[in-house]
Amino acid sequence: MEQKHDIRWYEEVDSTNNEMIRLSERLDNLSVIAAVFQTGGRGQRGNKWHSCRGENLTFSILLRFGIPSDTDPRYCSPLPAADQFKISELATIAQCRFLERNGIKDARIKWPNDIYVSDRKISGMLVENSLSGKHVRTSVVGIGLNVNQTVFPDWLPNPVSMAIITGMKYNTEELLSGFMDVFREKLTAGLAYGGGLKDEYESLMYRRGTESEFADLSSRPAYLPANPLVTGTGTGIKADGTVFRGTITGITDSGLLSVRLENGSVKHFGFKEIAYII
Ligand code: BTN
Repeated sequence: MEQKHDIRWYEEVDSTNNEMIRLSERLDNLSVIAAVFQTGGRGQRGNKWHSCRGENLTFSILLRFGIPSDTDPRYCSPLPAADQFKISELATIAQCRFLERNGIKDARIKWPNDIYVSDRKISGMLVENSLSGKHVRTSVVGIGLNVNQTVFPDWLPNPVSMAIITGMKYNTEELLSGFMDVFREKLTAGLAYGGGLKDEYESLMYRRGTESEFADLSSRPAYLPANPLVTGTGTGIKADGTVFRGTITGITDSGLLSVRLENGSVKHFGFKEIAYII
């Protein structure tokens, strides 16, 4: 049967993002590299990404964008660097909709890039963009989605997988092809022609509209360890920023997180400036 999507499966690779970055000049828009096992899977903030061999999906999608002076119909419409959060919008929404189609109705986006079901993380994403002047040239969207793994190391604070939630066992190759169907649909609805998906992103946000606790890390010195939050296991996480109560109201056009504080004012946070207390 002819493959619907250009998905290259590797038995083993250091990181699908690394491999995609190495090959990106030679590959078409929407090519996918997937690995049965990554020897050096990378997460946010310089963390490692853990995934047992063959159990989950670890893959990277290549997006190529035109530049205003050279619009190539094979590429997505030019994307100003200031709008790069639209890539996160697209890829996180696609994951929630994909999980919904697979019977997991309550997947939510934990800003900026994680997918949570209840208070547990089912997926993480590492987006790495290359710019040309003021525009995004290529984007490597790396996704790690927990599928069949049911036992996780203790040091992971709150993992969950599709199998834990539904009790089913999945064929990862079929799942990835199904995910790419959804991803392409969302691409056409938004990013491909310069549009965004902000409203849909906000409607899917974890803890939006519910007052909860956060840690303000915005004045935390940069020399302190990369992931300051995890000082406990399970949900017993302690934050070392200033803890405050607030309510997520949405995101700004550039993708900052908007939180209404107890005094009624709204503060905007960038990545690394805020942590959720879960
Ligand atoms: C995070 O939550 O910290 C982001 C995790 C991203 C992991 C994926 S797995 C596929 C791709 N290759 C990598 O090395 N990282 C991403």
